[in-house]
Parts: sequence; C-alpha cells; structure tokens
Amino acid sequence: MLLTLWFGLLAGLLSSFVSAEANAVYQDPDTGLVFSSNYQLYKVDRGITFRIAIPTDVQSYTSYDAVVQVVVPNDVGWAGIAWAGSMPRNPLLVAWRNSQNQVVLSSRWATGHVPPQTYTGAQYTLFKTGTKSNSTHWQFTALCKGCTSWNTDTGATRYLSPRGGNRLAFAYSPNKPSNVNSATSTIPIHDVFGYWQHDFTQATNRDWATVVERLTV
Ligand code: HEM
Repeated sequence: MLLTLWFGLLAGLLSSFVSAEANAVYQDPDTGLVFSSNYQLYKVDRGITFRIAIPTDVQSYTSYDAVVQVVVPNDVGWAGIAWAGSMPRNPLLVAWRNSQNQVVLSSRWATGHVPPQTYTGAQYTLFKTGTKSNSTHWQFTALCKGCTSWNTDTGATRYLSPRGGNRLAFAYSPNKPSNVNSATSTIPIHDVFGYWQHDFTQATNRDWATVVERLTV
C-alpha cells in the first residue's frame, strides 16, 4: 500500500517535470482525428500516453461520444483509465492483450477500492485503424459511448465537461488478467496509479460523424 502511494507520488512529481508534454495537441495521421494527449509515468523512465478526441459543438451537461487512444509500452500487463479521476463509482476502461496479442477492452465499474465488475453503461468499439503494435509498444483506438456521463449512487447524473479540463486517472499493472482471452476476467491489482487534468477543449473534431463512421466500418 505504502509502496503504491510512494510510486503514485513519484510518478506525479516526475510527470510534472515533463509538463511540456501536458495536453499536447496530437494530429493522428492514422485516424485523421485530433486528440489532446497526456503522458503519464508509471516507472521512473517509462510512461503511457492517453489521448482523447471528442466532437465539436457539444453542449455542457450532455452525454457525448469520445474516442480514446492509448499508447502502451510492452511491459504493461494491463492499463486502465478512470474517466472521473478516481477508482470508485465512475466508468473504468481496462485494456490488455490476449494470447494472440490482440487488444481486449473491458468496461468496468468499482463500488469502492475493490475489484471492479463489468459495466454495461459504457461501450467501447475498437477501431482497426489506430490499433497496432511494434517491438516496443502497443496502441489502441476506440470509440466510447457512455464514458462522458454516468449515474451516481444517489441517482444524479455526472458529466465530463466538453470545454476545459477533466480530472482523469490511470492505473497500471505489470501483470495480465488471469484469463486474457475474456473481457470479464478477474484482474490483478495495480502497482501504480496517477491523476492528471485532461484538456477536452483542444480535443474537438469538426468532421466527427464522418470520421467516426469511416473508422467504425
Ligand atoms: C482487482 C482490481 C483492483 C483492486 C483490488 C484495486 C484496489 C485498490 C485499492 C486498495 C486502492 C487504494 C490504494 C491506496 O490507497 O494505496 C486503489 C486505488 C486506486 N485504484 Fe484501484 N483497484 C483495482 C483496479 C483498478 C482499476 C481497473 C482502476 C482504473 C481503471 C483503478 C484505479 C485506481 C485509482 C485511480 C486509485 C487511486 C485512489 C482513487 O482515486 O480512488 N483500480 N485501488
């Protein structure tokens, strides 16, 4: 526990040193989407890149689609995103590679700091374009429906702001889930987690419907 905290703090401190990278605008040559991009260290010398793209003209306090692109070093067992920046009670995305080295995306929800269960309120569609691997990294790109709003325990609805920063969180484990070929597998606990403010203002895409439709086929 202390070790996790220490790594979390260290990663937080180190990532503030590479703040030149924070919320960089990334024009993806593969998908044609514009993402805002953040790099999060999970080791002293290694990090995961988290990118978000959204449509333009999204009203605040509405649910809207998002595309998430994540670039992951090969030593990562699973990597996760918490869409509201903490583990409990918000949509979680957990990603790993199966026995054929294909990306598995698992939509989860945690009621506390306990193993998260499958969550049907958010659905991910993996795009072939923008999902690839090489000798050092794997990358996936996926559409998410249901990641920018969710219901709280009290029945209220929470929304991510399409303008400005949203606090996101990540978690990392060097270990893979026990059954890598099943999206509902139990997953081992993380070694490291961290937080950042992700700027959604710079993540907007004018031709959203056309581009997303092309990527979905
Ligand atoms: C078997 C699976 C998991 C277990 C047993 C677990 C357990 C825990 C525990 C005990 C803590 C508190 C750690 C501390 O205070 O030092 C924690 C924190 C955290 N976990 Fe998990 N976790 C799991 C999966 C996940 C996943 C899949 C994500 C994200 C996708 C995640 C994100 C976080 C974050 C961001 C924190 C920091 C505290 C917070 O913001 O709530 N965890 N987890």
